[in-house]
Amino acid sequence: MNILGIESSCDETACAVVRDGREVLSNVVYTQIKLHQPYGGVVPEIASRAHIEKISGVIDCAMQGFREKTGLGKEAIDAVAVTYGPGLASSLIVGLATAKGLALALGKPLFGINHMEAHLHTPFLFDSGEAPGLKPESCMPALGLAVSGGHTTWIDMPSYGEYEVVGQTLDDAAGEAFDKAAKLLGLGYPGGPVIDRVAKKWYDPPNLVPQGPDAFIPFPKGRPRAGVSALAGLDADLCTSFSGLKTALLHHVNRTYGTAPDRKIPEADMPRLVSSYQEAIVEVLADRTAHALRRRAYKALIVGGGVSLNGRLRAKLSETAAAAGVPVMLAKPGYCGDNAAMIAGLAFYRQNLSGDAALATDVMPTLQPGSMLPM
Ligand code: KG4
Ligand code: ZN
Repeated sequence: MNILGIESSCDETACAVVRDGREVLSNVVYTQIKLHQPYGGVVPEIASRAHIEKISGVIDCAMQGFREKTGLGKEAIDAVAVTYGPGLASSLIVGLATAKGLALALGKPLFGINHMEAHLHTPFLFDSGEAPGLKPESCMPALGLAVSGGHTTWIDMPSYGEYEVVGQTLDDAAGEAFDKAAKLLGLGYPGGPVIDRVAKKWYDPPNLVPQGPDAFIPFPKGRPRAGVSALAGLDADLCTSFSGLKTALLHHVNRTYGTAPDRKIPEADMPRLVSSYQEAIVEVLADRTAHALRRRAYKALIVGGGVSLNGRLRAKLSETAAAAGVPVMLAKPGYCGDNAAMIAGLAFYRQNLSGDAALATDVMPTLQPGSMLPM
């Protein structure tokens, strides 16, 4: 079954064709990063306008890739899948409206897909001609960790297609914490990749973690107090908070370099500073993950989302999973960030929102993993 997927939930306009849920036949991502860089973050109106401008071309490009790979045309597309949440409403609308039109024009079914659930499908995608690796079904029950610019969520997956949120950040997502720190330090947007790169200078060689009392600046590892209402009934040991970390960085910088508008942070200080900050985020993510892995007997740890590109996080989660005796499933770098292959791929397994319900649905900017049908 060939499914054409469309993704437009934030600042990437993407289209892909995936066979039988896992084999990526064609994958096109137009990233708007350059448009948002001057503002240090995603500007919703700029994002939706760019989606409108680019989406037809991106779909044409993906169809061309599909034709080149298979010799087949649009008659060989069996269904259309699209992200309908969570994300920016004005961005989601563009993809959803386009997908509805495309499904009607092709006379094929439409599947509505949850973006976060789709991030957890990325480790199971493979490019045509590559070895397929483990099947999602054989990894169940699994613990999922979705870490992106908008989410940091631990998800219990009893079987493939079942999702229950067991932990999450109470404020900023991990990606947001990276982005805000980079903005504060004048390192540009998005922050994750640049902090990852600069921090590597401190871990030299990359797999050697500096030791000793002064190796890292001690930043707080946000642990919410048990019983606070923001937990909404979730286990405090499976939740986190990153807003205090960002404030601690600000205080450290003000204390060390002053508050003058023209203050300069010496370049030589940057690797230790950003790696200390990165280490705090990575430790929090690994600690909660280790706790979650102790609670149930899982067969795998599945990680997805843009932050899972982070080299130090990949290494640390691999250690965490090994200590718990489970394999860690990480996506190939090309599938960590937002893409449509994950949408088309998951749709093969999870056709929960389909048919007339999919055609009638609106975007759901706060959609949670595990929601079966929109209310
Ligand atoms: O999954 P994604 O592409 O979009 C969302 O769904 O949010 O994630 C984007 C986030 C950004 O916050 C970006 O800074 C972060 O992923 N990111 C990274 C790295 N590459 C991207 N964070 C840490 N290390 C990286 N190498
Ligand atoms: Zn995402």
